[in-house]
Amino acid sequence: MTERTFSIIKPDATERNLTGKINAVIEDAGLRIVAQRRVRLSQAQAEKFYEIHKERPFFGELVSTMTSAPVVVQVLEGDNAVARYREVMGATNPDNAAEGTIRKLFAKNVGENSVHGSDSLDNAKIEIAQFFTDADIVG
Ligand code: CMP
Repeated sequence: MTERTFSIIKPDATERNLTGKINAVIEDAGLRIVAQRRVRLSQAQAEKFYEIHKERPFFGELVSTMTSAPVVVQVLEGDNAVARYREVMGATNPDNAAEGTIRKLFAKNVGENSVHGSDSLDNAKIEIAQFFTDADIVG
């Protein structure tokens, strides 16, 4: 089934000029980038986006990392896009990520892991709506 998922190319990756290389992995995997914008997240935006992690010990570090430099927010479209992008990203901790995945190729550590992708179709809809309107998405 054709789905849309939400992606963030994180500060550790934009700082190292890896946006194009990461987009190439995404496109080579058969996912289409149907919306994309470079943005500097505010503290409030990052806190809201990661609200479900607010009780975690790493929450403060997560928010400060995500606001430390620009990110690229994206909508990806394709067959089974949510699960497909999670495969393409690889495990959250790059030490556990499979060969050829974005995190294996580029991530520095679990906190600076280069990309975020939605973990379910419901969350994809919620996350997309935080950054894009329907008019921004050109499928
Ligand atoms: P992401 O997919 O963006 O969702 C939550 C993020 O929290 C996750 O990727 C990691 O970057 C980050 N994270 C998860 N576990 C840890 C940890 N133990 N220490 C620091 N950051 C973490």
